[in-house]
Amino acid sequence: MKIAVIIGSPRGMKGNTGRLLEEVLAGLSKDAKPELIDLSRQRILPCNGCDHCHRTGTCHLKDDYETIKQSLLTCDGFILASPNYIFSVTAQLKALFDRSGNIIHCLMLEDKYGAVVETSGGGEDDEVIGYMARFINSTGAQSVGGIGSPTIGDRTFPDEEVLFDKARALGSELCRCIKDAEYFPDQAEYLLAFKSRMKRLVEYQKENWTAEQSYWQERLAQ
Ligand SMILES: Cc1cc2nc3c(=O)[nH]c(=O)nc-3n(C[C@H](O)[C@H](O)[C@H](O)COP(=O)(O)O)c2cc1C
Repeated sequence: MKIAVIIGSPRGMKGNTGRLLEEVLAGLSKDAKPELIDLSRQRILPCNGCDHCHRTGTCHLKDDYETIKQSLLTCDGFILASPNYIFSVTAQLKALFDRSGNIIHCLMLEDKYGAVVETSGGGEDDEVIGYMARFINSTGAQSVGGIGSPTIGDRTFPDEEVLFDKARALGSELCRCIKDAEYFPDQAEYLLAFKSRMKRLVEYQKENWTAEQSYWQERLAQ
């Protein structure tokens, strides 16, 4: 079972988010193979809105994006981890989200599962967790849940024992959902509506976005 683990903190695994993420990873099942993608060690340029990925299926910017995309396409589940940076994710993770238009238009991660990890200085955790969970759904994947917490010092958290128990439970839940092909009815309505919106969008742009049009046609023919 392959799990792509994406951390967007500029402090990588040495920061607060990395500490909480360690506990989530400790909860993964024995057969899980996590692949750590530390965005502080990767080069992800900002999207320049050129539509190349929609037309051809790949981004023309020369950096690490396509390798990360392949990790997402070939995983069974993935984890997104970020500190709260001004009520949102870090610029590093946002750049990855913005570069994922091709994945989103085609809901390429349908049938996969995602989980979310977040830390903050003082709160608004749910807002950032919700944003990352929405990104998971916009790729076609289902979100199994998220964990977030403010910090009380470097790599320390209030009610740490309880928090870390929940973090390990989240890792375990991600693996269970993958094994059981879990279905979340509360996300189904959003996913269905989003899917038909993306299908319409690509159909409308079919003369330009030829790669995405072909992808959809192949899927519908299956
Ligand atoms: C640029 C920047 C922006 C931040 N914005 C917020 C914020 O809006 N709300 C908040 O509660 N904490 C904020 N923080 C604090 C971080 O979310 C917090 O320290 C987090 O645990 C850092 O995680 P890391 O060590 O994994 O990078 C900010 C920190 C930085 C450096």
